[in-house]
Amino acid sequence: MKTWMLMLLVVPVLAAAGAAAQTSAQTPAPTTLAGDAAAGKKLFVSLGCWTCHGYEGQGGAAPRIAPRPLARAAFTAYVRRPPQRMPNYPDSVVSDEQLGHIHAYLQSRPMPPPVKSIPLLQP
Ligand code: HEC
Repeated sequence: MKTWMLMLLVVPVLAAAGAAAQTSAQTPAPTTLAGDAAAGKKLFVSLGCWTCHGYEGQGGAAPRIAPRPLARAAFTAYVRRPPQRMPNYPDSVVSDEQLGHIHAYLQSRPMPPPVKSIPLLQP
């Protein structure tokens, strides 16, 4: 592949990623009940959520849950009693506060670049 072709691909992706990073930096984190995203990331890894949902919560074997997870209360209720295939995580395994950290981590993930900005994916 020629270098200029590579640039066509890489530049818009970088631009979109920059725009996404800027957007999330400008959006203030909610202060009430706000979790700690860094702590949430560790829990997301140690509890194995990533094995089905992907490290970024981007989805894989299970649906995408970042950067727009269910609202905090619904999220907690879901993880306590998942109605379908997902294993349940009781209070003895992860506290409500820790789930708040995971929720904050998921919300802190950047949006993926829009498909329209990726030339290779155009018809
Ligand atoms: C063994 C695989 C697996 C693991 C591990 C897992 N999940 Fe899931 N999760 C799923 C699947 C599959 C679904 C889709 C619904 C279903 O089939 O149960 C789901 C759905 C969800 C949903 C609802 C999605 C939505 O927006 O409708 C949330 C929230 C969620 N998972 C959070 C978590 C969190 C947080 C963890 C870690 C504490 C976790 N999951 C660990 C498989 C998993």
